[in-house]
Amino acid sequence: MRLFERLDELYAIGGGPGANRIGYSAAEDRAHELAAAWLREAGLDVTVDESGNLIGRLPGADLELSELWTGSHLDSVPQGGRYDGALGVVAGLEALDRLGQRRRTLAVVAFRDEERGCSGSRGRCASGGLPGTFVELHHEQGPRLAAAGTPLGVVTGIVGYKRGTRTIQGRAGHAGTTPMLGRQDALVAAAEEILRVRDAALSVKDAVATVGQLEVEPGGTNVIPNRVTFSLDVRAPDAERLGRMIAAVGLEDAGRTEPAAMSDSVRAALRAPIEARGLPVVELPSGAGHDAGILAAAGVDAGMLFVRAGADGVSHSPDEAASDEDVLLAVDVLTDALELLSAR
Ligand code: CO
Repeated sequence: MRLFERLDELYAIGGGPGANRIGYSAAEDRAHELAAAWLREAGLDVTVDESGNLIGRLPGADLELSELWTGSHLDSVPQGGRYDGALGVVAGLEALDRLGQRRRTLAVVAFRDEERGCSGSRGRCASGGLPGTFVELHHEQGPRLAAAGTPLGVVTGIVGYKRGTRTIQGRAGHAGTTPMLGRQDALVAAAEEILRVRDAALSVKDAVATVGQLEVEPGGTNVIPNRVTFSLDVRAPDAERLGRMIAAVGLEDAGRTEPAAMSDSVRAALRAPIEARGLPVVELPSGAGHDAGILAAAGVDAGMLFVRAGADGVSHSPDEAASDEDVLLAVDVLTDALELLSAR
């Protein structure tokens, strides 16, 4: 089937293992050239904007109406998965092919360089020319839909986050001659702090917190650590919970990235075809950043449909999986949602 063949073609670019199409690399360029050929073959008007984003338009009957876009990104992390980003682009193309001309102009977009900070969609938002509505189909990249036993999920919002570091100061000493009582071991204190970070996240619904880096000084096996610096990454689905998490882990509020709520109208348009198929509607926040969040922050009515992840929710890995059946169902639901939104 064409959709799966196209996913295979994109996956093969850049060589294995996994997907290797880093943003703005020659491999991402090749993916964009390939997708541009598919868009032209589908009869769409193809343009590339200043940031290198690829857009294929199907002009509507009423050009006064705001545009309705679907799509995702074609770059990947090193040794990434088959579906992350690529699925949203190839599925969007299938949906437009089925829908044909509508009142509203429809478009499939492939944003550049999503993985390293959404520079393509940020560039587009800075230079203008945004659609009224954007719908992104994406691999869930997590285990929740599998746990709920359902193939599709409607995203409520993209989490906000704050990253930072904390430093704990202690006092160095000889590991052999300094008695245990009275030590000021900075790493022991940091270990207690890190457990408190975990507990803080457990006490705030849908919040997560991670310590991923630890620097221990002076770093000798026979020296009591006198200084420890650790990284913090905290995320929460709304501004209030994000603020609570930031305070709980002892970071400053400044420089936080706000959560982006998904549009009520897009959520409703995604729920309807899921309900119509007799499936449970699961709504969930996205813990990862996405182009849809960037567009939402710029005022676009944005929404996302997640397809259930196989392999325990693994993503950013060649092990990333989704069943063909779930993927085809997601394309059907995306198509129906776009039909509803195009008629608004
Ligand atoms: Co992605």
